[in-house]
Amino acid sequence: ETKPRTPVLWVHGLECTCCSESFIRSAHPLVKDVVLSMISLDYDDTLMAAAGHQAEAALEDTIERYKGQYILAVEGNPPLNEDGMFCIIGGKPFVEQLRHAAEHAKAIISWGSCASHGCVQAARPNPTRATPVHQVITDKPIIKVPGCPPIAEVMTGVITYMLTFDRIPELDRTGRPKMFYSQRIHDKCYRRPHFDAGQFVEAFDDEAARRGYCLYKMGCKGPTTYNACSTVRWNEGTSFPIQAGHGCIGCSEEGFWDKGSWYARL
Ligand code: SF4
Ligand code: SF4
Ligand code: F3S
Repeated sequence: ETKPRTPVLWVHGLECTCCSESFIRSAHPLVKDVVLSMISLDYDDTLMAAAGHQAEAALEDTIERYKGQYILAVEGNPPLNEDGMFCIIGGKPFVEQLRHAAEHAKAIISWGSCASHGCVQAARPNPTRATPVHQVITDKPIIKVPGCPPIAEVMTGVITYMLTFDRIPELDRTGRPKMFYSQRIHDKCYRRPHFDAGQFVEAFDDEAARRGYCLYKMGCKGPTTYNACSTVRWNEGTSFPIQAGHGCIGCSEEGFWDKGSWYARL
């Protein structure tokens, strides 16, 4: 209770803002506890009350006062074509804000598939040259938390770990926290017994679908997707895409817009 809260700067590049939408629904811990008690969210241009020059001043103030101490959270990614003009923050290309804020950050969290992999805006032919954060910032520890969006409790779980142990979580070879991304959806899917028994849905709304059989033949990417959906689930553990009747589209995997969708088979 006496420890100063760790400053967090949360910047936004090309994205849809749904990583934030996911984050604000965290139940364990409650997002209000994260934002009001655990971290000091000094800048977040979608959540903060300040705007314009006041918001920019808050960013600069934290960078100046907490050099080497703050966490930089990045949602979205910088487009590099046309000198970065496809995403402007405070009158400048987002890539400039990203480089500036990253320079004195202790560590960087790449929220979601946009920051981690590029996501939809980097899908072929990627006209804006949307580029994942780790390809622009190469001299800082980067924790990738992919998913479109990532699960709320995975996001707050990563932050909780970093605050509790004052270190970044153990990462896999691609930079994802092992505690949430070491297993495939398929490994813990409750429909797995049907996969093993060769019982498959062949068309949406067929009898096999009504019985809850495996969605592999409907293009489910669970066997190649590393994420915690089949264990942590969504909405306070209520459900996840497969439980809702649609196969996993691999939203936490690199290039899923080009490789993971059902339509990619056509
Ligand atoms: Fe939106 Fe997905 Fe990008 Fe998150 S990763 S900002 S949910 S498009
Ligand atoms: Fe695996 Fe998908 Fe079938 Fe679940 S629905 S068992 S993840 S192929
Ligand atoms: Fe995404 Fe697949 Fe989970 S589509 S939300 S990784 S079940």
